[in-house]
Amino acid sequence: MPMRIRKTTKKAVSRMWREWLAVDIKAYGEKRGREIYKESRERKKKITLGAFDGKKLLGYASGEYSRGIAHLASLFVAENARGGGIGEKLVKAYETRAKRLGAHTLTVNTTGPLKNLGFYRKLGFKTESRYCNKRNKIEFIRLYKYT
Ligand SMILES: CC(C)(COP(=O)(O)OP(=O)(O)OC[C@H]1O[C@@H](n2cnc3c(N)ncnc32)[C@H](O)[C@@H]1OP(=O)(O)O)[C@@H](O)C(=O)NCCC(=O)NCCS
Repeated sequence: MPMRIRKTTKKAVSRMWREWLAVDIKAYGEKRGREIYKESRERKKKITLGAFDGKKLLGYASGEYSRGIAHLASLFVAENARGGGIGEKLVKAYETRAKRLGAHTLTVNTTGPLKNLGFYRKLGFKTESRYCNKRNKIEFIRLYKYT
């Protein structure tokens, strides 16, 4: 029968996991290979934190932890609450939570026009890459920080 690529399920591909373990052990050695294999089987975990004044939400940080990396997908502080340290506190709390889940690195994406690079630099983020989104021509910046 000729080979055909088609949609399948996670369950169906799981029969290849045993072979993955052998590849990881070959690449990283017995101990680290088993750790990496175990990490790759972990479920993704959502992180959602809010900054509150009583019941009023002033800002939030949300994202996802997966395989040692916590991506900060969305960070927002209400306009009238900006400049008072809430954004910084949210990112720091996000980092603490991510570390507890096992993160060794945080990542975040931003764009040139938002002019937030100084904010992230202040918090210890470094530029991983920059590129131009070819659809809208906006500069895209990916940042990372080791926890
Ligand atoms: C970016 C954002 C989250 C920052 O939150 P914030 O509460 O205003 O920031 P903070 O007050 O905690 O700022 C912490 C420090 O970073 C500095 N900072 C804040 N925004 C900055 C910026 N755009 N460029 C350079 N420095 C900045 C502050 O001056 C402060 O420094 P200081 O401690 O020396 O005074 C907020 O402006 C926001 O929600 N913007 C709209 C949404 C957005 O752009 N989200 C991020 C998407 S990538």
